[in-house]
Amino acid sequence: MNSNQPIGIFDSGVGGLTVAKAVKKILPNESIIYFGDTAHLPYGDKSVAAIQAYSVRIAAYLLNRGCKVILIACNSASSAAYDLVRAFVGKKAMVFDVINPTIDDLRENGSGRKIGLIGTQQTVNSGVYAKKIKRLNRNINFVALATPLLVPMIEEGIFEEQISMDIIKKYLSDKSLDHINALILGCTHYPIIKKQIGSYFSGAGKEVEVIDAAEKVAKTLKSHLEHHLLHAKVKCKGDEFKVSDYTASFEKITRIFFGEEVNLERVSIGEVF
Ligand code: DGL
Repeated sequence: MNSNQPIGIFDSGVGGLTVAKAVKKILPNESIIYFGDTAHLPYGDKSVAAIQAYSVRIAAYLLNRGCKVILIACNSASSAAYDLVRAFVGKKAMVFDVINPTIDDLRENGSGRKIGLIGTQQTVNSGVYAKKIKRLNRNINFVALATPLLVPMIEEGIFEEQISMDIIKKYLSDKSLDHINALILGCTHYPIIKKQIGSYFSGAGKEVEVIDAAEKVAKTLKSHLEHHLLHAKVKCKGDEFKVSDYTASFEKITRIFFGEEVNLERVSIGEVF
């Protein structure tokens, strides 16, 4: 591995661009190769076996492209395939997910608190957060709620309207989330509605910390790269944004997640799967 190699980031679609954006902000010299598996999206309601098969093939593609890092920028894929991707990649690259940085944070700050999580069916049903939090042994009362309407709502660009506020309220007023001290945004789409989630809680007179993993993931990546002297010292070449299926609407919504519209390039399916 050397410092000029790119950082590979993948997600089921364009939601992982929230993580790519945080990485670019904190590591501006790095070049990234982003892969959105739009042909197989959403991962949130796929089986573990399917997500594992897609993830390993995408990791192989990113390794072939010379990436020094494989960052799984999707909670559904992180919960289903992190261990497998790590075993597959071995010492050829560093592997990161979007779950462990939040868990590390809870090790320091979670003691005695009630922590909620919202995410896809896959992430919630996997029980991965629950298992990892239990292992911390920090007396954390953990509850998780699947919120499957939020991804399509955000992808439709509906998140600043009454109807989206009503959906957010419907989920967050679920009894299971009563008296939480913090809420983990367990899906890489959700940072887009962080403000709305915060205003739901403040409007309801509740003091709840909203935990967004994107920034934590970027910080973890930066410190590991620097520790191993693998951070780019000079500006590397431009970024690439690949997808397994291209439509103009995917390209259009990259603006929501990345802050600017990016050019998506379709890779031929045989190159990856
Ligand atoms: N970005 C995915 C995640 O973080 C959600 C979208 C999907 O279901 O594919 O879980």
